[in-house]
Amino acid sequence: MKRIKCVGILTSGGDSPGMNAAIRAVTRTAIYNGLRVKGIMRGYKGLIDDEIVDFKTGNVSNIVKQGGTILKTARSREFETKEGRRKAWDNMQKHKIDALVVIGGDGSLTGARIFAAEYDIPVVGLPGTIDNDLYGTDTTIGYDSALNTIVWAVDRLRDTASSHERLFFVEVMGRNAGFLALNGAIATGAEAAIIPEIATEVDQLTELIENGFRKDKNSSIVLVAESETTGGAMGMAERVKKEYPQFDSRVTILGHIQRGGSPTASDRILASRMGQQAVEALLDGQRNIMIGVDDDQLVHVPFSQAIRDDKPIDRGLLQTVKILSI
Ligand code: F6P
Repeated sequence: MKRIKCVGILTSGGDSPGMNAAIRAVTRTAIYNGLRVKGIMRGYKGLIDDEIVDFKTGNVSNIVKQGGTILKTARSREFETKEGRRKAWDNMQKHKIDALVVIGGDGSLTGARIFAAEYDIPVVGLPGTIDNDLYGTDTTIGYDSALNTIVWAVDRLRDTASSHERLFFVEVMGRNAGFLALNGAIATGAEAAIIPEIATEVDQLTELIENGFRKDKNSSIVLVAESETTGGAMGMAERVKKEYPQFDSRVTILGHIQRGGSPTASDRILASRMGQQAVEALLDGQRNIMIGVDDDQLVHVPFSQAIRDDKPIDRGLLQTVKILSI
């Protein structure tokens, strides 16, 4: 096996708080071990367009606390083509990059897996997404920070919802995963969470209104995961208007605010540990794995598993929301 002398690092897909802490950890662990580091700007797009810079320890000074990603990020259509990946490979050769660390969500790791197989490159992935939807890891880099942003926002909405005795539908991110909605609901004492995982099995709105609402409660907050299956917060509010006009409802879409801000301590620690582990795994001859965390221990999850399987959500937590909001 070829000895690794230079590691390339990129962030791809939706950004998440803690990506910078991971970039710092990868850079410094690599340099500590005598490797060279190349920062690849704008994800796979930058690899194709040759936007590649030398990274020294100073490039990552004081970024552990910064949201976003200093490497910038993008979603590259060109990397989905063979020709695009060929250009990316040529640039890796040009810069003598022997291995890659890719920080991103399922789309980014899918790209990494295809590229690694096509050109026989050692690649290690780090789960960087606020959605927490990667299989094989208890949590992802950015999820805890996004949850805390949701708590911050919903606490404020509760004040006005109580004053006006209103029903609020608050849409949170998560594309097709209900982790932010469900745990956000527990953390804010919301009356319900509407999540895509059960959207085709149960009419969650009818269930909520028929079983869940007490007339003497002076406000209700429902966290709705954004997804076509749930219909989002707007979809819910439209239904309420038609089917339950007695409720005065409002919609708040938290949107991209959930992706920004300084990472929480948990995310900084997770990203730092995972970044160090990514480099050590590469030096140990590991490839095509994502670093995950299981019961506070770092684990190696094959790409095929991290991407393919749907990460199960603990449905018992729906009952927790229901019981605690009576
Ligand atoms: O995957 C992360 C995520 O924030 C999802 O929760 C959301 O659906 C999506 O990205 C939004 O993506 P964009 O950056 O294209 O608006």
